[in-house]
Amino acid sequence: MKRLLVLGLIIFAGGCSGGDDDSKESEDEVQLPAVDCTKETVPTYAQVTLFQTTCTQCHSTTKTGDARKGMGAEAAPVNINYDTYMAAKESAIPAAQELYEDARGAMPPEDSRLPAATDAEKKQVLVWAKCGAPQ
Ligand code: HEC
Repeated sequence: MKRLLVLGLIIFAGGCSGGDDDSKESEDEVQLPAVDCTKETVPTYAQVTLFQTTCTQCHSTTKTGDARKGMGAEAAPVNINYDTYMAAKESAIPAAQELYEDARGAMPPEDSRLPAATDAEKKQVLVWAKCGAPQ
């Protein structure tokens, strides 16, 4: 009985550390900067310029297949779009997480030849996403 318990614990511990070693960059691990929504000017969806200038070149509900690559090598996932309010709202926090993933920001992809988002552009997405993603 005791041996079974020990064995169970070993398997349990092994399962946990195995999960941590999975080095697929998980967006869940991106720590977004804190935002005080009472002090920020929260933009509306239409005012988030980066969506229109950059993200929708690939992430657009009207685009399929190669059109979702822009100038990049890979097509953007079909379920992530920023050209309509409803779609953008659904992927609001993931958008911020991509932008704050590292110093440059993971989006737009480096191979897309699009300029990286500026700090002001990133902040606008962050505030919008964290403060209710208003239309
Ligand atoms: C040149 C095309 C292109 C542009 C422009 C682009 N993306 Fe992407 N996006 C991709 C591709 C390809 C993937 C899938 C591969 C990856 O995750 O790196 C992706 C994935 C994503 C994901 C999912 C990430 C994940 O791991 O699940 C999000 C969220 C995202 N993009 C947001 C954005 C935002 C926000 C912008 C604008 C700042 C943007 N993208 C601009 C091509 C693009």
